[in-house]
Order: sequence, then C-alpha cells, then structure tokens
Amino acid sequence: MKTIQELKESKQKKKRISMVTCYDHWSAKIVAKTDVDCLLVGDSVAMVVHGFSNTLQATTEMMALHTQAVSRAQTNKLIVTDLPFLAHRKGRKYMMNCVDSLMKAGASALKIETAPGQENAVHYISQSGVPIIGHLGLTPQYVHQFGGFKLQGKSEEEGQTILDHAKKLEQAGAHALVLECIPQALAQRITQEVQIPTIGIGAGLNVDGQVLVLHDLLGFNSDFKPRFVRFFADGEKWMGTAVNQFSQAVTDKTFPKDEESFR
Ligand code: KIV
Repeated sequence: MKTIQELKESKQKKKRISMVTCYDHWSAKIVAKTDVDCLLVGDSVAMVVHGFSNTLQATTEMMALHTQAVSRAQTNKLIVTDLPFLAHRKGRKYMMNCVDSLMKAGASALKIETAPGQENAVHYISQSGVPIIGHLGLTPQYVHQFGGFKLQGKSEEEGQTILDHAKKLEQAGAHALVLECIPQALAQRITQEVQIPTIGIGAGLNVDGQVLVLHDLLGFNSDFKPRFVRFFADGEKWMGTAVNQFSQAVTDKTFPKDEESFR
C-alpha cells in the first residue's frame, strides 16, 4: 500500500490494514519485503530507540531524521510520521514548518494527537495537501494530563467525547484515525460511525486495522508486556543468543575461520 487513497479504500473493500512502527533504514528494508501495509515513524522512537520515558522528547529534527532513514529504503509502503509534541500548539507557522520538514523528509502522511477543539489544525494541514491521520484515546503526548499510560473512554461521558472528537476529525479532513487503548465497544462504535478507516492499538478486534510497535511485536523488550501487545517472536532471546555465540566464538578462537579471512 503506497497511498492514503489505498488506505481509505481498504475500509470500503473491507480489507484489514496492518501498520507497524519503523524508525530506521535496516528494519525498513526488512519490513519492505513483508506484507504489512504501512509504516509508522512514530514518536515512540523517543522511548524505544532513544530511551526517554515518554514521547514528549521527540523533536521535529528527530522525527525528520528517522523518516529520512526509513524513506531511503524505498519500501513502496505508505510512510506515516508523527507530528511531535506541541507542534500544532506553537502557532501556525511553527506547525507548518514542522509539516514541511516531515513531508520533505519522505513522509506520505502525518499523524497528529489532538484534544477536542483542536480539529482546526487537522483542517489546515489537510487543506495544504497533506494527508493527516488523527490519534485518539490514549494519546501519549497527554501522558501527564492522563496521569500515566491508562485506558481512556471508560465512562459513558468520556466515550461520547472521544466519539464526537472522532467525527469532528473526520469532518476536518482526517483520512484515518488511530484509536489507542479504549474499550473495544467504543472502538467498534467509532469504526461504524465514521467513513474513514480506524487503526487500533489496544482497541480490540472490531476496527479496520491494527498497529503495533515493531520492537514490541518482535519481543525485544520482555519487561514491557501491556495487555494489547502480543510477542510474535522472541527477539530478545535470539538476539542475545546470536551475540553470545559471537562472543563465545571470539573467546574460543573459532571466529573468524580461514574462509572468513583474507589471504
Ligand atoms: O508513536 C507511536 O508508535 C504510535 C503508535 C503506538 C500508534 O503512535
């Protein structure tokens, strides 16, 4: 899947959308050969790759650098990049400079975390020719306001607020919505009531697609196992095993062999 139009059509065609995060060139080249539809250069890069405790530390420069690395892999997949913390809250010029940098870095669409009442940012960006994906529910850039990475939309009232916000984002021109950590019944209702695709993470099965952080699904961090993550591999184990085998071969003097050396 290369374009945002294909993403939108997936919903009408009832073809489920798969999205994974991707932050660097080598993993982009591997993921390019898979069946996954879209790559997300998520601001989770600040946590997963740079070791920060939340996504607030992601900057435009950081997001642009990682987007360039991914886009150089020429993956033939839709590349979506996150607008970093406060990008749409520091004035229109600041926001559009950020949009400009990320699109020129190789993104084909941008994802934005908004609160109700901020839909005008989505409208302005999409009117500028940039496909935009809304992000609702547990929006990690609001972690301090939420008091942690917690399930959102638990009460009837909170759920209604998220549903209304989803509809307003659609009206503002959003091409798709990421729904993070909300009850599955709410995610299902949003999916039924908007025409644009919904991509869930911790939002149950009844959405139009799923997204996971690549390192999580590969099992690279066994200490981090929220309910909505499934380890599809034991990455931590195989990486550790391979590095230990190398280390052992160095100790044993069984690496390099003659055929791995130059005469
Ligand atoms: O930054 C990110 O990786 C995300 C996904 C978790 C949806 O926003």
